[in-house]
Amino acid sequence: MSVTASAIRTAQRVDRFTYAIRNIVAEAKKVEAGGKKVRYLNIGDPNQFGFLTPPHLIEAVIKAMRDGHNGYVPSPGIVEAREAAAADFVARGVNVSADRVLITSGTSEGIELALTGIVDEGEEVLVPSPTYPLYTAVLAKIGATPAYYRTDHTNDWQPDLDHLRSQITAKTRALVVIDPNNPTGAVYPDATRRALIGIAEQHGLVILADEVYGDLSYDGPVPAMAALDNDAPIISYSSLSKAYLAPGWRAGWMAVGSSPRLDPALAAIKKLADGRLCSPGPMQYAVTAALTGDRSHQVSFRKELRDRAELTTKRINAIPGMSCVMPKSAFYAMPKVDLPPGKKDTDFVLGLLRSKGVLTVYGSGFGTALEDGFFRIVFLASRQELDAIYQDVADFTAQFRSA
Ligand SMILES: Cc1ncc(COP(=O)(O)O)c(C=O)c1O
Repeated sequence: MSVTASAIRTAQRVDRFTYAIRNIVAEAKKVEAGGKKVRYLNIGDPNQFGFLTPPHLIEAVIKAMRDGHNGYVPSPGIVEAREAAAADFVARGVNVSADRVLITSGTSEGIELALTGIVDEGEEVLVPSPTYPLYTAVLAKIGATPAYYRTDHTNDWQPDLDHLRSQITAKTRALVVIDPNNPTGAVYPDATRRALIGIAEQHGLVILADEVYGDLSYDGPVPAMAALDNDAPIISYSSLSKAYLAPGWRAGWMAVGSSPRLDPALAAIKKLADGRLCSPGPMQYAVTAALTGDRSHQVSFRKELRDRAELTTKRINAIPGMSCVMPKSAFYAMPKVDLPPGKKDTDFVLGLLRSKGVLTVYGSGFGTALEDGFFRIVFLASRQELDAIYQDVADFTAQFRSA
């Protein structure tokens, strides 16, 4: 037996793979090790800030376990959950039957299944800039390339449709639409959504409609994109993570739209889903409970979110050299700081962390340019905590810009 001292080589795809929202935690741990308290505003997890899972969902999971539903379940999910998800889509105007619904380990797994099932190595996918970084991370894994289309902070973070059109090539396969949006909090008007569908249809693209924040628009639930055109090839996703306050359960669902043009994609996704056996069984009973039961927690959650969004926008816009578009949904804001010459968004975010113990995420982790000075704040903390945090952000920004 030969013995060598060299480390095991890793795959090149890992070099391309980044997920800034969690990668940055290593820096925060170093700051904590130095004795400073860190306020984590990097991950969008409502549970960490006292927004708790509705009890009837917890009961549903416990009951499922007690009733002995602890074995494998069918790869696309238990029938009850698939039917509940299909009925929920139908109630939102999307004509989809339960056999076109899969229960997944969060929206994340649905995204990965769809991109893996549809996009080949070397092909391209339109993703918004800024984007939720899982899309680019999965594309890195499968050897495909993101083509960023601009969303414009001077226009309420709406997509720039001309720029989007200019990004389409013969290799483009799919259009990712995150609406309501993370990281910007934007909600798109119907006219924009119809225009996006029109562009996708013109170029033969499948739309991946990420609707994980669909019920967290402050003005109430946003209609599903597929409801605008049931014949368009649209795959829709959501989960229990955000609007049902159970992100750790890894329970979500996807609907492969009723267009027969999606039949091969549905077959491919189901084939891939077989290989990962199933998503966690007991949590699927909570999907049924969530989609057929009481949703009143969402009313108070939306109100709390709107309050925090207003506070955040007001406080950030009062800081010299900083601006912030008011979010219309979810719990993220994407402010912009005017960077001194030569400085990057990473310098600002790491400086804020090291100086004040406030952990945010640099915009370049979501695909914006390093020199544009965007960063993302998760504003789920209490008003009192946010007040103190924004004072720290103001103090640090003054120091950073004058240095
Ligand atoms: C836009 C978007 N899509 C998908 C996800 C992943 O959610 P899930 O927990 O359902 O996998 C997130 C999580 O933050 C998100 O913001």
